[in-house]
Amino acid sequence: MCGIVGYIGTRQAFPVLIKGLKRLEYRGYDSTGVALLSQIDMLNVYKKEGKVAQLEETLTSSDLSGTLGIAHTRWATHGIPSSGNAHPHTSQSGKLALVHNGIIENYSVIKERLLEHGFTFKSETDTEVLVQFIEYVKECNKVDTVTAVRLALNRVIGAYAIVLVDKDHPDQVIAARKSSPLVIGLGENNEEFFIASDATPLVEYTQNVVYLNDEEIVVLKRGEEMQICNLKNESVDPDVQCIEMNIGLLEKGGYPHFMLKEIYEQAQAMKDCMRGRLLEQEKRVVLSAVTHHRERLLNAKRVIIVSCGTSWHAGLIGKQMIETFAKVPVEVEYASEFRYRNPVIDARDVVIAISQSGETADTLAAISLAKERGAFIFGIVNAVGSSIARITDTGTYIHVGPEIGVASTKAFTGQLTVLTMLALSLGKEKQTVSTTEYEEIVAELAVIPDKMERMLVFDKQIAELAKCYTYARNFIYLGRGYNFPVALEGALKLKEISYIHAEGYPAAEMKHGPIALVDAEMPVVVIATHHQLYEKTLSNIQEVKARKGRILAIVTEGDEVVKKLADNVIEVPATLACLSPLLTVIPLQLLAYHVAVMKGLDVDQPRNLAKSVTVE
Ligand code: F6R
Repeated sequence: MCGIVGYIGTRQAFPVLIKGLKRLEYRGYDSTGVALLSQIDMLNVYKKEGKVAQLEETLTSSDLSGTLGIAHTRWATHGIPSSGNAHPHTSQSGKLALVHNGIIENYSVIKERLLEHGFTFKSETDTEVLVQFIEYVKECNKVDTVTAVRLALNRVIGAYAIVLVDKDHPDQVIAARKSSPLVIGLGENNEEFFIASDATPLVEYTQNVVYLNDEEIVVLKRGEEMQICNLKNESVDPDVQCIEMNIGLLEKGGYPHFMLKEIYEQAQAMKDCMRGRLLEQEKRVVLSAVTHHRERLLNAKRVIIVSCGTSWHAGLIGKQMIETFAKVPVEVEYASEFRYRNPVIDARDVVIAISQSGETADTLAAISLAKERGAFIFGIVNAVGSSIARITDTGTYIHVGPEIGVASTKAFTGQLTVLTMLALSLGKEKQTVSTTEYEEIVAELAVIPDKMERMLVFDKQIAELAKCYTYARNFIYLGRGYNFPVALEGALKLKEISYIHAEGYPAAEMKHGPIALVDAEMPVVVIATHHQLYEKTLSNIQEVKARKGRILAIVTEGDEVVKKLADNVIEVPATLACLSPLLTVIPLQLLAYHVAVMKGLDVDQPRNLAKSVTVE
């Protein structure tokens, strides 16, 4: 939900900003803008509807000089995508320029007040209101810009990560955050500073970063230590951390799209996720979070999983594993519903928050609510140092590397891997899983990456199959047991990147309504592997076939029965029921990918979406 980049230092800012924006484009890509303080202290602002490359193309003859600048890639919240609504927004005097990620909830009240004082507005955005408000506070109180930012932010309700430049102070950049992420990268001897919504634009310049905390304001000046204070004007010591990120993972590496690269990376990502945790020789899994918080976790009277989207689907599978192996009741909640439901939670509850980005606003709010009521919070997060990773009591990173394609793929399999290891660890400690079953699952987990790898040979076949489905207008996905959430996930993947309407159902629910939709025009994807309720799924396939539905079945290698019934089958290697989603989801990811490619759609940046949903 909007990406922010800022730079102050000795090199030309524009290339740093543009490269940074491209790294952050997954966060939103409906309009783009930069503001540069030029050599002659002109504040040059360039904005355009569309993607970063489109802005870049229009600037070939513009003055792009300057060693200080801010930039933004937008995912519209207030106001349609347009160059007028794109950031940076400037104040009435033209001296202040601001980029913002978040939502200022009380912007209309502030705007009314500013209108009464003669301010005029060029856009429909809450961000323009904020920058004008900062100028108003500055003038009214006759204070410097940093103080004006602090006073204004004290009056603001909502979420923000902001970076502000003041034409009259070409020596400084001011940034602040509340509920939206912001990272500061430190150059050598403080000669330069980089600011961004996440660490990906910074990694090629520095490994030393400071994650700004909520309600903190930082002032960055060339050659000086950064100054951080909070909204109460108390000074805060910066906590400098060292990050390690492989730049190769941020590039497409020869693949046409990040999504395809990330689908292909899943075997390696799963190995990375299990490294040091799955001890094959010793036939056990070790999660340090479980070791350190053993009592708290084992005494949980209930587990509540909160998450959104794909992470919620992983949670549904996690529920089945935790209940099966650790024998503790688990509820899975949409974070967005949970946070407003006044749920009954107390100190004996353990809340598991699952999030790839670690920044999802609803999941963050659900965690805060559960924390207030005394629950213990366990995070399953990918983005190291993200807000969720930092506010949870403990957790396990999935360590699958940066996920850049907007449609989540390797994060899903990483989340499932951690949930499996968690369920097994808890079950082992509680002695609610037999040693034989435990060791069997551990041994099988170790070989799943090889099985994932084997499945990629079907990529070409799936690409061929996708041709038959390009013109479908609706899809049904069916699965049972551990594979019902995979049906939901397959449908979500198709919807978000190919814009085809798709619904996932537990296969047996068909006859309670959705079967009315089935006719010769309706493709039905059925996960019918040799697991729980296989026979019953066969009956469901028969029911669809009787209504002339076109069946694409995901089956266990060697299955001859479904082959005779289905129009097409994709085989997955045999595995245990609880681990089967790690394999069955891959053909569904590939199917969605190839259908979208056939339709000529922007797979990595589908319309209306953003990777990190930092607004509710
Ligand atoms: C779907 C997708 C989204 C996210 C959801 C939660 O492909 O990516 O549904 O899963 O927005 O995001 P995180 O996991 O970052 O909290």
